[in-house]
Amino acid sequence: MISPEVIEEIKERCDIESIVSSYVTLKRAGSNLNGLCPFHSEKTPSFTVFPIASNFYCFGCGAGGDVITFIMKIEGLDYPGALEFLAKRAGIPLDLNGQGSNEGKRRARILSMNREAGRFFHKQLYEKAGIAGHTYLTQKRGLSDAVIKHFGLGFAPNDFGALTSYLSSLGYTRQEMTEGFLCGISRKTDKPYDYFRNRVIFPIIDVAGNLIAFGGRVMDDSTPKYLNTSDTPAFKKSKNLFALNFAKKRGAEHMILCEGYMDVIALHAAGFDNAVATLGTAITPEQARLLKRYTKKVFIAYDSDAAGQRAAERAFRLLAEVGVETKLLKMKGAKDPDEYLRKFGDVRFKNLMEEGKSRFDFTFDNVLARYDLQNSEDRIAAAKEMTNVLSGIVSGVERDVYTHKVADHLKLPFEALQRDVDRLMRKNRSETKKSEMRTIVRKTEGYQDRVNPDYIKNVKAAKAEEGVLGILLQFPELIPAAQKLLSCDDFCTEYGRIVYEALQQFYIDGKLEIGRLNEVLTEEQMGRVMRMKVARDGLLNNETVLHECANTLKMAKNKKEMDIYEIIDAKRRKQND
Ligand code: CTP
Ligand code: MN
Repeated sequence: MISPEVIEEIKERCDIESIVSSYVTLKRAGSNLNGLCPFHSEKTPSFTVFPIASNFYCFGCGAGGDVITFIMKIEGLDYPGALEFLAKRAGIPLDLNGQGSNEGKRRARILSMNREAGRFFHKQLYEKAGIAGHTYLTQKRGLSDAVIKHFGLGFAPNDFGALTSYLSSLGYTRQEMTEGFLCGISRKTDKPYDYFRNRVIFPIIDVAGNLIAFGGRVMDDSTPKYLNTSDTPAFKKSKNLFALNFAKKRGAEHMILCEGYMDVIALHAAGFDNAVATLGTAITPEQARLLKRYTKKVFIAYDSDAAGQRAAERAFRLLAEVGVETKLLKMKGAKDPDEYLRKFGDVRFKNLMEEGKSRFDFTFDNVLARYDLQNSEDRIAAAKEMTNVLSGIVSGVERDVYTHKVADHLKLPFEALQRDVDRLMRKNRSETKKSEMRTIVRKTEGYQDRVNPDYIKNVKAAKAEEGVLGILLQFPELIPAAQKLLSCDDFCTEYGRIVYEALQQFYIDGKLEIGRLNEVLTEEQMGRVMRMKVARDGLLNNETVLHECANTLKMAKNKKEMDIYEIIDAKRRKQND
């Protein structure tokens, strides 16, 4: 455990307003601050920071917590990871090897082991064992030593024991090495052996500066071309991007998203230091959100082959969903950015960015390529597909411009096309409304309450319970009074019981910090804690009210819990009302 005093110090030095401000544009509203929630897409700000209470809550999606919860969510870190992140930012030394939770300790060990391994690989490039690697990177791939140093590239010698014996000599255990994906265990000899052999090494560094993973490329055409660290306690591929540690510093107006490590490195070397890449997988929603945090606009620079273009379609979609503007780079005459730069140079690449294609043009070109416009049936089919696309464009001006374009190209009367688009839009709208209504109904019934699934079983008791907890969250000094009224078993939902138990425990420990609930609750559960607290804002929160809530809870709880059939009946009754 990191001591409560240290956590306290971290929280004191990392005030929530300035931390959140580095991710979200906040506007003052009375004593609070509002902004667009970074955790869900919204157009009107429902994300609120309460500087006095040092916490935040989103009235839209229910995310909430303190500065630590915020960092956990936005940086994709676990609790110790977030503490470490903030400590670093505040310049507070944390001895994580001596303390920290078990998971945090494992993670810290893997990270320090990765640092050693990275240094080891890098050094090899300049030793006899690594000549082949150095030659490959400089001669074959045209990288300078400055670029090699900048990215910390390395070489894994053609040897089964080079790294493992080095790491063992530093005291890393076999379990740590396998867990960190640096070695395997031989079935024959039961001895550890190096995973990365005879490969050039690309270290992957997260935004907090941790070396989290490696990619290793062969130097010929053998397979697999790349060997990558799979997920470890310190690494999630789906949540990180290669070179974001460099790109994020630029306060980037835009970023360039590539497929390959080598593309990114070539781009940085050519002065495009805002290039990043996914880690050997198609882009994930988490990565889209991550990009959104740092930039408004992304140039997609995927390989020009069919697979690359399919992947681009997905990137277009996921980035649009989080509200990032996208442009596609069409690299004629080269298979990827690396090759394009070598063949045509940085000026041409810059021009390419100016001619970047919008998602619409990209889709339209694909449709045009698939149909024969001399053939009427094909033209109708193409028009149908494009009507679909056009009806999805929100901006009226944009829709109009593109409708004209499609009509021109397909040689159709503009009015006819526009009528079809309008009709489809009306149809879609009414369908969205219906499904929105369904969602609202479900939500209000507590039907899909993932955080507190017991809520629906006894709504009256659950409400009272939230009252009790809300009051205690506002005024922890009432915890001893609550203890006299309620035991953990008096709580009617499992969720409420866990929160109550934790509050008591932390109170006994002598330090009640809502943030410490992060240690036992998930992010979603933490959001609900904030909702319970915020719900009591402006209400009377004293010992008398606490008594009332506790009594309601006890009485309501003693009425037997509804079983699933009673719940269904209750719902039906409610619908018929
Ligand atoms: N990749 C992978 N495993 C493979 C092939 C590719 O993990 N067997 C991932 C790597 O992250 C790679 C990216 O997919 O960087 C793009 O693949 P590719 O275009 O084939 O590789 P490049 O990095 O462009 O390699 P190079 O230019 O050296 O051929
Ligand atoms: Mn390539």
